[in-house]
Amino acid sequence: MAPHRAAAAPCSSAALLLLSLLLAVASAGLSSYFGTKSRYEEVNPYLVQDPLSLEVEVQVNDALMRFFDYCAKFVALVEENDAAMCQVTAFKEGPEMRKVLEKVASALCLPVEELNADLVQVAFLTCSYELAIKNVTSPWCSLFSEEDAKVLEYLNDLKQYWKRGYGYDINSRSSCILFQDIFEHLDEAVEESKSSKPISSPLIVQVGHAETLQPLLALMGFFKDDEPLKANNYIKQTHRKFRSGRIVPYAANLVFVLYHCDHAKTSDEEYQVQMLLNEQPLVFLHSNETVSTYADLRDYYKDILENCHFKEECELPKINVTAVDEL
Ligand SMILES: *[C@@H]1O[C@H](CO)[C@@H](O)[C@H](O)[C@H]1NC(C)=O
Ligand SMILES: *[C@@H]1O[C@H](CO)[C@@H](O)[C@H](O)[C@H]1NC(C)=O
Ligand SMILES: *[C@@H]1O[C@H](CO)[C@@H](O)[C@H](O)[C@H]1NC(C)=O
Repeated sequence: MAPHRAAAAPCSSAALLLLSLLLAVASAGLSSYFGTKSRYEEVNPYLVQDPLSLEVEVQVNDALMRFFDYCAKFVALVEENDAAMCQVTAFKEGPEMRKVLEKVASALCLPVEELNADLVQVAFLTCSYELAIKNVTSPWCSLFSEEDAKVLEYLNDLKQYWKRGYGYDINSRSSCILFQDIFEHLDEAVEESKSSKPISSPLIVQVGHAETLQPLLALMGFFKDDEPLKANNYIKQTHRKFRSGRIVPYAANLVFVLYHCDHAKTSDEEYQVQMLLNEQPLVFLHSNETVSTYADLRDYYKDILENCHFKEECELPKINVTAVDEL
């Protein structure tokens, strides 16, 4: 963490370091923990130099790290509700995808009726997996131009947006249990530091999935575009912030670093925080800076910390709601 510590210029010494780290593993269905050092290293060698090479006991806490499975409202109204994905469905049938389908069908000498968006997406994923994991260009890649890849990227972003992102409030609200957990750990460290006690958990590692991390980032308001991603605004969203391939790539990780600064001018400046997403400092929304006092950050998210209650947020509405506009 040394290079990042240097970025926190006001602090001549950082005696306290707390990390909450989320590894989002793209492969769906993988269990939500990694028990051994070697497994961690398979995930991302850059993350595991010193601190994580310790052999640690892993506790599985799905209620915290798979909050999306435990949130009845999310499950019923988004996850299991086809109508909630209407923008995704519409894009699959729209003109941009149609063009890709026609090109792919022609390259494969197939009638276009034998292809659909899902099949083309599988071909594209096969291409991208081999490129990402093995750095080899799969023959499947030859079916796609860069423009086709952008259309398929948008299709994936649409799905992430409506299922895990800003599409429906419940997507991100369901993660407030994890958000609050992170701040409880930070609060605890600040309290212990203030009373000159040893920090009981100087490093906390929480491992989940992209499905864990994306809602949390949306809850905090990161990568939010002015306009929603929709089936009919592909061109308008060319320069969108919401690009899931960059936000939650393989081995995506979010690190909260809490600093204790010895020579702070005010007591608020004594505790400072940085957030790193995929090893890069995140710009805080309340200040446009990459370092914030802990007090300012806490204050900015006060409403979520005080008023977002998992149980209530996730309760199914009593009336029979299946219509999307009720979400
Ligand atoms: C991936 O392959 C390309 C060419 O085949 C090579 O130039 C590049 O260095 C490789 N990248 C990595 C990360 O191995
Ligand atoms: C951060 O920068 C953006 C773009 O320059 C600006 O629109 C926004 O108001 C700034 N936010 C704060 C809190 O200064
Ligand atoms: C609620 O919806 C379910 C499934 O669509 C239906 O079977 C049930 O009759 C509905 N209940 C009421 C009170 O409308």
